[in-house]
Amino acid sequence: MMTSNEIRIKFLEFFKAHGHTIVPSSSLIPDDPSVLLTTAGMQQFKPYYAELDPTTTVHPSIGQPIGRSAASVQKCFRTSDIDEVGDATHLTMFEMLGNFSFGGYFKKEAISYAHEFITKVVGLPISYVTIFKGSDVVPKDLESKAIWNSLGVNDVREEGMEDVFWGPTGSKGPCGPTTEIYCKTSEGKDVEVWNIVFNEFLCSSSREDLLAGKAQLDRLPSPGVDTGMGFERLVTIVQKTASIYDTDAFQTVFGDILKNDNKKSARIVADHLRSTVFLLADGVTPSNKDRGYILRRIMRRLVVHSQKLGLSKTDLLNRTETVIANYGGAYPEIVKNLSVVKDELQKEYDKFANTLKDGLNKFNKLFANAKNDPATFVDAMAKNAFDLYQSSGLPFDATFDLLDESGFAYDRAALQNRATGLMKEHQEISKAGSAGKFGGHGLILTGEVKASNEEEVKKVTRMHTATHLLHKALRQVLGEEVHQQGSDITPERLRFDFTYPQKMTAEQIAAVEKIVNDEVAKDDAVTMAEMSFKQAVAEGALAFFKNKYPETVKVYRVGDFSKEVCGGPHVTHTLEVGTVKIVKEEAVSAGVRRIRAIVEP
Ligand code: ALA
Repeated sequence: MMTSNEIRIKFLEFFKAHGHTIVPSSSLIPDDPSVLLTTAGMQQFKPYYAELDPTTTVHPSIGQPIGRSAASVQKCFRTSDIDEVGDATHLTMFEMLGNFSFGGYFKKEAISYAHEFITKVVGLPISYVTIFKGSDVVPKDLESKAIWNSLGVNDVREEGMEDVFWGPTGSKGPCGPTTEIYCKTSEGKDVEVWNIVFNEFLCSSSREDLLAGKAQLDRLPSPGVDTGMGFERLVTIVQKTASIYDTDAFQTVFGDILKNDNKKSARIVADHLRSTVFLLADGVTPSNKDRGYILRRIMRRLVVHSQKLGLSKTDLLNRTETVIANYGGAYPEIVKNLSVVKDELQKEYDKFANTLKDGLNKFNKLFANAKNDPATFVDAMAKNAFDLYQSSGLPFDATFDLLDESGFAYDRAALQNRATGLMKEHQEISKAGSAGKFGGHGLILTGEVKASNEEEVKKVTRMHTATHLLHKALRQVLGEEVHQQGSDITPERLRFDFTYPQKMTAEQIAAVEKIVNDEVAKDDAVTMAEMSFKQAVAEGALAFFKNKYPETVKVYRVGDFSKEVCGGPHVTHTLEVGTVKIVKEEAVSAGVRRIRAIVEP
């Protein structure tokens, strides 16, 4: 039997032999600020399809340019299947095998490689394949059909935008028609194992907008290939097991737990503990927001189900070592972070365990009341789920699992939607609340600016203006190829990410600092005008292309020096900023640099 470790290695060796550069998995925390977690192998390569030259840009993890073809085994995390975890095929974290072409080979090679790998290297028969059936704007993919036929695959099925047109990820990016390979499981069911995307277009907006017909597709100057094969699913088929959890990958680490009669809880524990280890090792910490909230949900659900199985906190903590020992070969970065993983798991466990018992008692009472009236059940229980999270920290998924176990029939998806809606409303209200609190300053707590009292507001406001000065100065020193990729401001420091292919020299850093501090010394007035986004761009205002802007925007000017589309807040004159110091310059990913700076005094 081919082991999962062997399959990973065979995949990379196969593509290396076909001229691909092997690139390590990137972090689960993506560079792209418009997505919370890495959901696909192509995430780290996104800029190579349209913005950066793969033959000259140094990739930070390999220290040289990738060239036009690459392959990787990428850790990915998706919340879309979280409710299905516990069945035979769904996971939250998974590994994706992928090969990529950035303006290099295209359909013929991509399909031939996939065909050879599946039928020869891992020796699986292909059940059927799919191709794109065409839409108003994108023609039917007859070329792929002909290539499959030439390889002897004649069951070629046609599907539409929903299934076989992939991307973009986040708020814009590369996308295109796909062809998928289906193979049979040991139980005779056909499942998709490989998705081969032909990135021929750049989409102006999100996938949601694309499906709603509200996005523009422009042809990419040189089309590319992005493929993704679900590793655990492939291993299941190769090893002919009944579920993902019966493969060697899961049995080695969780075999004893998975024997439990409570199959669903055992599988949730295995999946969620593995995800918890990887997320913590990549620096995600549990919180009430964004990716921190995703992690908190899975950690707390892990606690609930592990207690059901009679596992203790120590059992879980010890098991993190087994996970790390087993995956450390493929992902060396997790080995370094063992103590972080254990500390964070312990902290979250303790925090939650204190309120869990109380939460379970409350749940029983609330449920007993809600089920009396099936007509109002979803609304009432959504509110209860939200209250349980607020008062006892019980995550929605755990509450719904308890409902499932009760055997009561209800619509889980509807309840999930309603409860998530309440959570969103609550977050909006607290955001508006803190903005109101600092109303005198007109402060809006944007994603990039965070403060919790008046003094901090002053500090982050100074740093926000400093960020505009730095942005402009970077463009003067390094050139117009500098584009903002992200910004984050805390009372301690500002952080600014931008496109640039190399490390900055000490001279360049000094030159940027000098330009900024000269501008501060001039005591430029900072002014704001509202105008249409179109006019702002026409006037040369810098905008952060990853944001979606409303029709009317604010444009902040610093003297004659800088002009940017921005929500504020800013100082009124640049002397208020103080002295700006760049304290760190580092790589974030291929072609993206990050500086951290402080303002003094
Ligand atoms: N990026 C493609 C996917 O995630 C391959 O399916």
